[in-house]
Amino acid sequence: MGAQFDRRRFLALPVGLAAGLTISQQAEALEHEMSQALDRQFGVPWACDIAGAGERIRKNAADDFGLSTDTRLYLMHDEPRLPKMPAAPTLMDFFKLRFAPASHLLQSANLAVKKGLPEKVVLACLLHDISLSGLIRTDHGYWGAQLVEPYVDPEVSWAIRAHQALKFFPDPSVGYEYPKSYIRMFGADYKPEPYVVSAYEQARKNKWYMTARLITLNDLYAFDPKVVVMPEQFTDIIGRHFKQPKEGLGFDGSPSAHMWRSIIWPNNYL
Ligand SMILES: [Fe+2]
Ligand SMILES: [Fe+2]
Repeated sequence: MGAQFDRRRFLALPVGLAAGLTISQQAEALEHEMSQALDRQFGVPWACDIAGAGERIRKNAADDFGLSTDTRLYLMHDEPRLPKMPAAPTLMDFFKLRFAPASHLLQSANLAVKKGLPEKVVLACLLHDISLSGLIRTDHGYWGAQLVEPYVDPEVSWAIRAHQALKFFPDPSVGYEYPKSYIRMFGADYKPEPYVVSAYEQARKNKWYMTARLITLNDLYAFDPKVVVMPEQFTDIIGRHFKQPKEGLGFDGSPSAHMWRSIIWPNNYL
């Protein structure tokens, strides 16, 4: 538990509740307080957890022992607040039903198209932050690369993985500067972790360095609301460079199938 957790509030809670609530209800209230404390501290506490999902899912450990009077079922399968996905979802379905709004990805890829960059680079730009859009923020370049690895050219997944580290390091030879927004977001004295520095140094020596660097160069920070880019604009590029499994993403038994399923059903209890 982190330093921001309000221990006094947490410890005081059962005293105040003891008069009228069952043990199970008290435990649930405590769990709720812990969850809220985590929310306050981290913003988004869990992978794949859409905002407020915890409110609907019983999270009381006592329930597992049959002590609760709460008879609501745990959520398994479709999340009613999200659009239903087709049985065999395509990458385009994920863009429309899970990554939406995907303006950042679509505008980044659109910029790459306008610059006349190779289709593989356009696809890398289109996919570079899909983990941020649908799965998890932490180490998003690594998660995103792993998601798409079975379906794209190794150069594309390598570049998506490497963009995470490259973002922190300027390359004046191509006009890439340290993002001003990072100073605002992480502080002027923020230094990337040693593993990020090491990943950057390795990437510099790689034959695909420039592919990853091009992702960072087309990584738009400000979205132009007047520029509307539809996912369909990339249908042909996806068709040529993304190996869509006929069973659908999530159901083809690939090493990342479970990650796609986690995006389809983000709030399953198990
Ligand atoms: Fe990114
Ligand atoms: Fe990005």
